[in-house]
Amino acid sequence: MVQLTKEEEEILNGKYGEAKAKALEVILRVAESLEATKLVKIKHAHISGVSYGTIGEAGLAFIKELVELGAKVSVPASVNPIGYDDEEPEKCGLLDVSREFLKGQQEILKALRDMGADLLLTCTPYYTKIFQEYNLSAGAHVAWGESSAVAYANSFLSLRTNREGGPLALMAAIAGRTYYYGMHLEENRIPDVSYLIPNNIEANEVTLSIIAEYITKYHESEFPPLLKIGASSLNDTIKREIAATLGASGNIPMIVIPGVTLEAIKVKETRQHLIDQKYVLSRLEELSPQREPDYYFIGCPHASEEELELLSKITRGNRLIITISKDVYRRKQDVVKKLERKGAKILKSTCLIVSRLKSHDISIVTNSYKAYFYLSKRGVEIGLKSINEIIKELS
Ligand code: F3S
Repeated sequence: MVQLTKEEEEILNGKYGEAKAKALEVILRVAESLEATKLVKIKHAHISGVSYGTIGEAGLAFIKELVELGAKVSVPASVNPIGYDDEEPEKCGLLDVSREFLKGQQEILKALRDMGADLLLTCTPYYTKIFQEYNLSAGAHVAWGESSAVAYANSFLSLRTNREGGPLALMAAIAGRTYYYGMHLEENRIPDVSYLIPNNIEANEVTLSIIAEYITKYHESEFPPLLKIGASSLNDTIKREIAATLGASGNIPMIVIPGVTLEAIKVKETRQHLIDQKYVLSRLEELSPQREPDYYFIGCPHASEEELELLSKITRGNRLIITISKDVYRRKQDVVKKLERKGAKILKSTCLIVSRLKSHDISIVTNSYKAYFYLSKRGVEIGLKSINEIIKELS
């Protein structure tokens, strides 16, 4: 039985409008099905599933219907990438942006804007300036869609969120609440299995993504895995790619890393699991590029300011595609211009996965396991290399 507060009863009875009542009713149904005992107020929502290429007419109709009912977000809410660069749709020539696609996507954006969402259009809202203004302190309850951001938020930002589907994150944004379950409960965030990294594995975002893939295949506990690795071996690129892999290859919303994740100090005894070295080495071999690629791709999840800086060292950029948020693009104009002069194509607000590619008959080298996971299923030939190796090849 879900215990509701007086305010929640009033919302359900329509005191704050039909849309908010409907949104809370959806959250309540989910809470009941999961046998949650109460709802919890959230401080922020991140809404995914907003590309017209992904949700199509049915998704657009659903969002428009909410706007017609007067829906407004009750908490700050940011929005995931869409199907093209919203300021320069034709940029780069690689994406298929038909008139129908543009129209559908623009209607989705208008509806979300009307509801009061922040159109950050990025899967790394935590790299944007506005994110600081949300003032989310450690332990804050949020409702995020976008699996890579969910694992990053729980593991590295000390926020608490389940992995929400796009519509459910939107409902939570409108209702201002989510179901008190899963990652929102302190006791569910403490690992009971530790994964040990085999010897002779150099730590970079590709090797650590393969290790994260391994964990998604062998982790059976309902609690998050703990990865034993020195905090000094990790940089933000590695953390972000681990998080993205956990969400793409599996359904793990959090990983605990000593010295990095807040919950690590509460861990007592854990079972030890030594990661199979052979598995890691053979996957690295399988996923390494087989030939000279047509393109290099960085920015899944969207790249950070530091990565743009690193990439600006390259000398040959004509095969490099980078996807980032508009916010980072604007704040790093000097670096953006430098990279563009070298031929790099920098796309804002989108990525090669949520957009529609004109052709899948291309080969790409990337540092992103998540990009490999989704693009290889569409027939794109993908190989993995770390950002440092890519920079070397393009210098
Ligand atoms: Fe972001 Fe697109 Fe990758 S939305 S996580 S860059 S698939």
